[in-house]
Amino acid sequence: MASSKSKGRVSLDERFYLSADDFFPANAGLGLTYDDVSLATRYSEVLPRMTRLDSSLSDSLALSLPIVSSDMDTVTEHRMAIAMALNGGLGLLHYNMPEADQVAEVRRVKNHIHGMIGDPAVVSADDTIGQVLARIERDGLAFSTFPVTSSDGTLLGLLPGSTVKERHGQRKVVAVMIPRDKVFTVAEKDLGKDPIATADRKFSEHVGQNKLLVVDAKNKLRGLFTLSDIERISEESRAHVRPTRDADFRLRVGVAISVPRTADGEIDRTRLLAHVSALIDEGADALAISTAHGHTKGVGDALRLLRKAHKDITLIAGNVTSGEGVEFLAAAGADTVKIGQGPGSICTTRIVAGVGIPQLTALYVASRAAAKKGVRILADGGITKSGDIVKALTLADAVILGGLLAGSREAPGKLMEINGKTYKEYRGMGSHEAMRKGSAARYGHSASGKFSKVAAEGIEALKEVSGTVDQVLGTLAGGVQSGLGYLGAANLAEHRKRARYIRVTPAGQREAAPHDVIEIKAGS
Ligand code: XMP
Repeated sequence: MASSKSKGRVSLDERFYLSADDFFPANAGLGLTYDDVSLATRYSEVLPRMTRLDSSLSDSLALSLPIVSSDMDTVTEHRMAIAMALNGGLGLLHYNMPEADQVAEVRRVKNHIHGMIGDPAVVSADDTIGQVLARIERDGLAFSTFPVTSSDGTLLGLLPGSTVKERHGQRKVVAVMIPRDKVFTVAEKDLGKDPIATADRKFSEHVGQNKLLVVDAKNKLRGLFTLSDIERISEESRAHVRPTRDADFRLRVGVAISVPRTADGEIDRTRLLAHVSALIDEGADALAISTAHGHTKGVGDALRLLRKAHKDITLIAGNVTSGEGVEFLAAAGADTVKIGQGPGSICTTRIVAGVGIPQLTALYVASRAAAKKGVRILADGGITKSGDIVKALTLADAVILGGLLAGSREAPGKLMEINGKTYKEYRGMGSHEAMRKGSAARYGHSASGKFSKVAAEGIEALKEVSGTVDQVLGTLAGGVQSGLGYLGAANLAEHRKRARYIRVTPAGQREAAPHDVIEIKAGS
C-alpha cells in the first residue's frame, strides 16, 4: 500500500480525501447525506467477489449480509422475513396487526426450513379430508401431506397430498392414508452427528420419496425431513449464500414491538411482557422498539423493562440522530440503535415537524457515540441505490431498507396494474392509513385518536414491482462488493478504516448519474 505521508509532509491525497474523523468535524454544522459525498478509491488487491460483508446486530446475532428489511406494514411480513434471512440479512416484522397474529408470523418464519422440522403439523386418523382442507385454508399452509398420529404422538401413517382433494372431502384420513409399515422413516438414534447428510443419503437411496419421518424407539413421531428442504440446504452451501440461522438451524427473525399503554398513559407492563414472552417462546431473535423519536423517557423505560426481563435477547431501538440519543438507548439496554429521522422515501417528518438530520452527518455523530458505548448502529431510511449502502457502511453496522424492498414479490400487498405497469402500495408508518391500522403510537399519537386531526408524517405511495428479494439483494450486494473492491477492503472493518470522503457539488452530482445520452436500458 502506498504511504500517504512522506517525510512528515501531508500528501495531496491526504489533504483532499479525508478520513471520517477529519471530514465530518471539518463540515460540522452542515447536514450531509449520501449524494453530498463521494468516496475516494484506494490501492486495491481485492476483487469484489473476494469481499465478505459479514456484520452483526449484537454479540449473538450475526449477519452475512448487512441488510435489514424495515418494520413497515407494506414491507415485512413472514415472506419478506424468510427471504431476508435466506439471503443472510434479517427481516423486522411490523406491528400493525393483532398480537396473536404477530406471534403466528414469527412461527411461520421459524418453521420455514429446518434441517429437521421438529414439530410438524399432523392430522388424526378420524379427521375427514374436508376438515384437513379447512385447516390448510385457515392456517395458510403451503403443503398438504401430513403425518397421521394418535393423541399421544404415535405414528399411524402418512396422509399423501394427492388424496387431499375436495372430491374426497367426506372420506376419513384412515381410509386413504399410507399405513405405518409403508411410511418412509428413520429412527432418531440413526440420524448421527450430521442429520442433514443422513437424510440426504436416505433420499438418494429411495427414489420417489420426498418426506422422511423421524421416530423414536416407541414409534412416536419426532420430526420430519422434506426432500425440498434438504435440496435447498445443499444448494445454499454450494452457492456460498449463508442464511441467517439460529443454533437449531431455524431462520432468524426480528420483531418490532408496539409498547401498549394503560388508560393513564403508563406502560402496560403485564401486556407488554406477556406478548414479548410469547414472541420469544416462538423463537424471535431480536426485538425492535421503533419510534419516530427514540430519545424519550417512554422508549427508555420500555427498553429497561425488556432488558431486565430478557437478558440475552437482541434489542434494537430508535430512532435517533444524536450522540446523546445513542448513549441514552445504549444505557437503557439496546444492542443496536436505529439512526434516521426523516430520510425515508415516504417520510415527511422534516417537512411537517421541521426536525431531522441528513443521514451521513447523523451516522457519523451516532457512530462515534456508539463506539464509546460498545453498541451497533443501523442506517435507517433514505437508501435508494447500492452506492448509498457502500457509504452508509463506512459508519454503520448495517442498513435498513424500506422503499428498495417494497416493490419485491415478497412484500405484502396486492399488485395493481396501471397503464400496463405493475405496482405495489408502499406507505409511511406515519401516514393516516397506517396509523389507523396501529402505528399511531410510533408517532406519539393515541391509537384511538382521530387521525384526520393529526399531522401525518408519511405518505401513501406506489412502487413499481421489482422482482424477487433474491434478485434485489443480489444486485445490491454486488454493488456493495464493488464498493469494497474500489476501496481495497476485504471486509467491512477494513472498509470503515479505508473510507476517505469528499464533498460533491450539484455539478458533481449531475456528473455522477448518466447524462447527455438517451438512455435505452436503465441500469440497476
Ligand atoms: P426508505 O427510504 O428505505 O425508508 O423507504 C424507510 C424508513 O422510513 C422510516 N419511516 C417513516 N419515517 N414517516 C417518517 O418520517 C413515516 O411515515 C415513516 N414510515 C417509515 C422508517 O424508519 C423506515 O425504516
